[in-house]
Amino acid sequence: MHARAVAATITALLGTAALLSPLTAARAGDTREPTVLAHRGASAYAPENTLAAVDKAAALGVTWVENDVQRTRDGELVVLHDDSLARTTDVEQVFPGRAPWKVKDFTFAEIARLDAGGWFSSSYTGTRVPTLAQYMGRIEHNHENLLLEIKNPELYPGIERQIVTLLGDEGWLDGRHLGRIVVQSFSADSLRLVHRLRAAVTTGYLGTPPASALRGYAGFTDLINPSVNSISAGYVSSVHACRGPHGRPLRVFTWTVDDAATTWKAVGYGVDGIITDKPDVVRAALRAS
Ligand code: G3P
Ligand code: CA
Repeated sequence: MHARAVAATITALLGTAALLSPLTAARAGDTREPTVLAHRGASAYAPENTLAAVDKAAALGVTWVENDVQRTRDGELVVLHDDSLARTTDVEQVFPGRAPWKVKDFTFAEIARLDAGGWFSSSYTGTRVPTLAQYMGRIEHNHENLLLEIKNPELYPGIERQIVTLLGDEGWLDGRHLGRIVVQSFSADSLRLVHRLRAAVTTGYLGTPPASALRGYAGFTDLINPSVNSISAGYVSSVHACRGPHGRPLRVFTWTVDDAATTWKAVGYGVDGIITDKPDVVRAALRAS
């Protein structure tokens, strides 16, 4: 039985007040399991934001993958979390004189020389930083869906238009693909712009706006995606009570949940999606309920 069905059944049998289970706040009658999303790919098991992490998510049977997009000095969109290359590549060895090794200060040809896997495990040595186009190609090949984060948009003027153009070029703005992609950001301005450029694209705001501000956000975002440590069942209900720019209730994808207890807590809050480095752990927790 799915987690929310379990919660609803227990609630019906015992009454809400007597329950200690973290599942009790699940919305009654909603039997859908939250969507599981592999954070930066299956990043507990393969180097984050690489094609290997995308493939690992697919191998685990996880259909949604999250990533982070930044831009090189010569304008290539690349998939990297940090604005510096230092943590997830060997840039300090390859380009020792170029501290602080900002993504925006390197050409893609330079970044293509870097090893983006050896820091994680020697078995991934030789893994490369993917362009967004390469990444989208692998997502398509694996029949996966993408939660695309525009990272640090203030560093990359015009990146929203560039991403929307690339989505079109890669064939992701047709009716068959639009349900398979969400563009998210910590920047409300960035999301407003994406919504203005292509209103059909589903958007997600990263953060926890006060409940009183949610109706304003609902003008340009379809999801509110908060840290799991910042929410409650009441907050999630407040989000669900708003209708987004496409006329549907706002949804909640929460992050980053890597263990069973927190999974149950998130389910209890009534979230629609769980973003995790360990999708197998979250899925097992959902199914074991
Ligand atoms: O998708 C949510 C999460 O990715 C936001 O935080 O720092 O991992 O990009 P961060
Ligand atoms: Ca992210």
